[in-house]
Amino acid sequence: MLKPAQVLVTLVSLLLAFSGHYCSNAASPLQVGFYQGKCGANADVEEIVAGAVKAHFASDPTITAALLRLHFHDCFLNGCDASILLDGDDSEKTADTNIGLRGFDFIDAVKETLEATCPGVVSCADIIALATRDAVALAGGPMYKAETGRRDGNVSRAELVDENIPPPDISVAESIQLFQSKGVDHVDMTYLLGAHTVGVANCSFFQYRLYDFNGTGQPDPTMSPDLVTSLRSRCPKDATFENAANLDQNRTSIFTVDNSYYNQLKMHRGVLQIDQELTSHPNTTGIVDIAAESTTDFQNLFSSAMVNLGAVEVLTGSQGEIRTFCRAVNAKN
Ligand code: HEM
Repeated sequence: MLKPAQVLVTLVSLLLAFSGHYCSNAASPLQVGFYQGKCGANADVEEIVAGAVKAHFASDPTITAALLRLHFHDCFLNGCDASILLDGDDSEKTADTNIGLRGFDFIDAVKETLEATCPGVVSCADIIALATRDAVALAGGPMYKAETGRRDGNVSRAELVDENIPPPDISVAESIQLFQSKGVDHVDMTYLLGAHTVGVANCSFFQYRLYDFNGTGQPDPTMSPDLVTSLRSRCPKDATFENAANLDQNRTSIFTVDNSYYNQLKMHRGVLQIDQELTSHPNTTGIVDIAAESTTDFQNLFSSAMVNLGAVEVLTGSQGEIRTFCRAVNAKN
C-alpha cells in the first residue's frame, strides 16, 4: 500500500514527465554524441574527458562542486560559451562574485590533451559541460546524457556579472524571473539549486543571517537554532579571517550528489537564504517536498535541468570559434 506522500510523488513525477521535464530540450540546437567520429579513428572525445575527470576526482572530489558552479556561471552570462574561462583585466572571472570560482587549471589540462589528439575540434564550452556531467556521476549523481556541439564565444565582461549571476539573498520570485529570462523554468531552477548538495560557501555569503538579520539584532528566524550555533562558531561576528561552510549540512554526504540538500532545507538547515526560501515559496515548496522524498525523482529532474542549463544561449554551427587555449580567443590571421 502506497503512503499518501508516495502517491503524490508518483503523480507529480508523471505530470512532469508528460510536461517534458524528463526529456532533453527539444528546441536545443545541440545533440548527444556530437563528437563521435570527429577525433580521429581511435580517439573518443567523451572517453578522454571522462578519464581526466576520473583521475582528478580520485585525489580531489571537490572538483564536482567547482565544475557545477563554473558551468552555471558560464551559462548565465552570454550563454554556455566558455566566456568564464577567458583571462583579461576586465573579464568575467575578475568580478567579485566570481573570485571563488575554481577548476580553470583542470579545464586547461583537459584542453591540452584534446588539442594534442585532435586539434581545433572540441570547444572549451563542451569540455566544461562534459566534465561537469562526469564529475556529477563520480560523486554518486545521475549519468545524464550531456549534449554537445557548442562553440566558444569571444566576449567576456566583468561589468555584466552582477546583472546575470544571482546574489545569495535574491528572493525566490526574483530568481524565478532571472532563470526564466534564460529560458529555464522554476522547476528546473529548483532542481539546479540542488547542486548545492556539494561544495561550500564563504562566510561572507551568509554571515548576515547569523547575527543581525534585517536589522533585528537576531538571526534569521527561518534558520534552525542548532545551525545558527554551529555556523556562528565557523563564522565569528568580528572574524578577520575568511572561512566557509558546507552548503549541504548533512555531514555524511558532503561530496555526494544526492537529495539530502532538500531534506536539510525541510529541517531549516539551508545555509544560503535562497536555499531556505525554496521551502516557503508557493511555486517551489512542493518541488522541495518531492525531491526530498524521492531519490529517483531528484536524479531524473536534476538530469533534465542540467541538460536545459547546458543549452542556454549556445553558439553552434559557424558561430563563435573553437578556441586553441581556453583562456584566450584565437589570434586573427
Ligand atoms: C539563485 C541561484 C543561485 C545562487 C544565489 C547561488 C549562490 C551561491 C553562493 C553565494 C555560493 C558560495 C560561493 C563562494 O563561497 O565563493 C554558491 C556556491 C555554489 N553554487 Fe550556487 N547559487 C545559485 C545557483 C546555483 C546553480 C544553478 C548551480 C549549479 C547548477 C550552483 C552550484 C554551486 C556550487 C556547486 C557551489 C559550491 C562551489 C564550491 O564549493 O566551489 N549554484 N552558490
